[in-house]
Amino acid sequence: MVEKRVKEIVVEDLKVAFGDFYALKGVSFFANKGEFLGIIGASGAGKTTVLRVLTGQLSPTDGRAFVGGMDVTKKKDLISLLVGYVPQLEHISLYYDFSALQNAQFFGRLFGMRPKEIEERARQVLTILGFDEELMTKDVDKLSGGERKRVSISLGMIHDPPVLLLDEPTTGLDAHLRHETLNYLKELNFELGTTQVIISHDLEIVDYCTRVVLLENGYVSQFGTPEDLISTLPGQGESLKVVLQSMSRPVLDKLSKIEGVEYMARSGRNALKLFIDEPAEHMLPVVQELNELELPYEEISIVEADFFDYFQVKPWKEKGKGVVVP
Ligand SMILES: Nc1ncnc2c1ncn2[C@@H]1O[C@H](COP(=O)(O)OP(=O)(O)OP(=O)(O)O)[C@@H](O)[C@H]1O
Ligand SMILES: [Mg+2]
Repeated sequence: MVEKRVKEIVVEDLKVAFGDFYALKGVSFFANKGEFLGIIGASGAGKTTVLRVLTGQLSPTDGRAFVGGMDVTKKKDLISLLVGYVPQLEHISLYYDFSALQNAQFFGRLFGMRPKEIEERARQVLTILGFDEELMTKDVDKLSGGERKRVSISLGMIHDPPVLLLDEPTTGLDAHLRHETLNYLKELNFELGTTQVIISHDLEIVDYCTRVVLLENGYVSQFGTPEDLISTLPGQGESLKVVLQSMSRPVLDKLSKIEGVEYMARSGRNALKLFIDEPAEHMLPVVQELNELELPYEEISIVEADFFDYFQVKPWKEKGKGVVVP
């Protein structure tokens, strides 16, 4: 039986202008139900603007956006029930002199929930997020940075929305806490089936994502599953890793001249990944060329390509802007 995929979020040729300036210049992507979608882009790329449209806070200048099949500009009241929002700077939305459970009471009331219902729901979500009784009842100003993030995530989930939008939930946390937060978000995704859209500057979120949108200056430069995007590189997901004795500009220039090498990505201090079609078949010719070029190497092997490589070589730069969303 063919599984029917339901599109939970659809964004079609979205444009948002502030005066003469277009922050979004025609953005399209989608997420199926239960997906974990990452929107990645530099500061000013338009990431927060996309989320503000999806929450109904901002009306697009052109194009359309749907959540749960509903047009976000036409059904604003319903959208706020369908969507949970965790804003970029969580301290805007937290009461620091109150506990996580008390904060939940303020937020739940905004959705017309009863105190008992709020308490039950907050306990359910906070438990998934790894909170015990002590953490749930401690004042927020006595919690760590990572714990506070999880409180703000629980507030976004208080009214049981099928979609959760998170604006940079990992920014400002150390590497351990960034992964911890992402793992807790995956846990919510798994336990409650929540579709999540997560914004980040950071490529490390890609390991958690079922699909990614790369946003650049108001355009979608790439959209797809991480595997699909990586497999567009020569080598279809594999590369030739060369560990050299030393790395320098002349060495890099020589390597780039090896026949068939389309891209090179750094892979550690003295190592490079070469992107070449059929890497296994090209291993021997590459070894010969390295010898001819008098480039001493310590090791050469076939390794998997990852999203960091993909992002380093930016194959889409040559193909121009804009991505056709199927
Ligand atoms: N209300 C506004 N009025 C005018 N310009 C705005 C407004 N909101 C955003 N912009 C501009 O639109 C562009 C995109 O802003 P946005 O906040 O979406 O970026 P971002 O990708 O979230 O960046 P960051 O990673 O720094 O949060 C920026 O150039 C910003 O200055
Ligand atoms: Mg932002």
